[in-house]
Amino acid sequence: MREELLRILMQRLGSYISGEELATKLGVSRTAIWKQIRTLKARGVEIEVGKQGYRLTSMPDLLLESEIRRYLKARRFGRRLYIHERVASTNDLAKELARSEEEEGSVVIAEEQTHGRGRVGRVWLSPRGGLWFSLILRPNIAPEEAPKITLIFGAGVAKTLRRLYHVDASIKWPNDVLIHDRKVCGILTEVEAELDMLNFLVVGVGINANNSTQSFPEEIRSGATSLVEVLGKNVDRNRLLAELLNEFERSYEIFLKGGMRSLLIDWEDLCSTLGKRVRILTPRETIEGEAVKIDEEGALILKTDAGKQRRIIYGECIHLR
Ligand code: BTN
Repeated sequence: MREELLRILMQRLGSYISGEELATKLGVSRTAIWKQIRTLKARGVEIEVGKQGYRLTSMPDLLLESEIRRYLKARRFGRRLYIHERVASTNDLAKELARSEEEEGSVVIAEEQTHGRGRVGRVWLSPRGGLWFSLILRPNIAPEEAPKITLIFGAGVAKTLRRLYHVDASIKWPNDVLIHDRKVCGILTEVEAELDMLNFLVVGVGINANNSTQSFPEEIRSGATSLVEVLGKNVDRNRLLAELLNEFERSYEIFLKGGMRSLLIDWEDLCSTLGKRVRILTPRETIEGEAVKIDEEGALILKTDAGKQRRIIYGECIHLR
C-alpha cells in the first residue's frame, strides 16, 4: 500500500492531495494514510503536510517495484523482486532463498547493506544511494563454467552504463567496471555446487550510483567513483536496475545457447585491460606483464617480461599503464 500511495503522490508531484481522496483511492482509513506518510517521511521522502492534505515536493530516490517494472522487459530476470531497506548482504539473502528452492531470476535488492561483501573477503561499503543487488541463477552448466557468467555480467554493466549515460565505462579483467580508471561497479559471484553439479549461482552486483565515495576510507576512495560524481546529477536507480536485468537476460540466453564466442568479442571491445601492462596478484604469486587477450574460458593471457605466455584464471588485476 505504501508504494501505491507514493505512486499517487509522484503522479501529482507538487500539488496537494487530501487525506480523504488518498484514503478513498486506496480503500483504507485516513489514519492509515497518515501512518504511511509518517513512514515515508522517516525514509527521507519530502512530503509537506498542510491543510489541503499532502504534497510531494521532490521526486524521491527510492527503489520501488512499480518503477522498476516500468522499464523491465526481461521475462525471467526480475520476475520476483525482494526490495529491502537494510540487510547485511543481498548475496547472503539470495543464497538463503536459493537454498529453499527460489526460482531462477529472482532478485534481492537493498537500499543499504551493513555487511556488504567484496571479492577475496574484502568489505564492500554499501551506503544508501547505491545500487546493491543479487540475482539467482540455475544454469545447467559445470561449476568450472561459472566464471564465464560473471564475465558477461561485467560486460552487461559496462554496456548499460555507456548506453544510458554516455560514460566511458570499461571492464578491468575479470569484471570490475571502471569509469576514467576508477571503479564504479564490482561483481561477486558465489556458487553452491556438489561435485560436478552446480546447484545455483548468486551474482551480486554493487554499483556506486547516487552515493558519494567521499566518505570512503582513503585507500578505497582514491580508486573509486560513483555515477553521481561522474555525471553531476542523480541517476534513476529503478530504471538502471531494470535495464541491467534486461541486458543480463539477453546475454545469459546467448550464453546458454552456446554463444560465448560472440559475448567475448563484446567483452574485449569493452575491456580496458588488454594491451596494458598489469600486475596480477594470485593467492600464490605476483606476476607482471602485458595483458594480451582472454581465452574462451575467460582466463587472462599475459606476456611476461621473459617473453613467456601465462594463463591466469583467477587473480586481482592492477593496471600499471
Ligand atoms: C568486488 O569486490 O568488486 C565485488 C563487490 C560486490 C558487491 C555486491 S553489492 C550486492 C552484493 N552483496 C554483497 O554483499 N556483495 C555484492
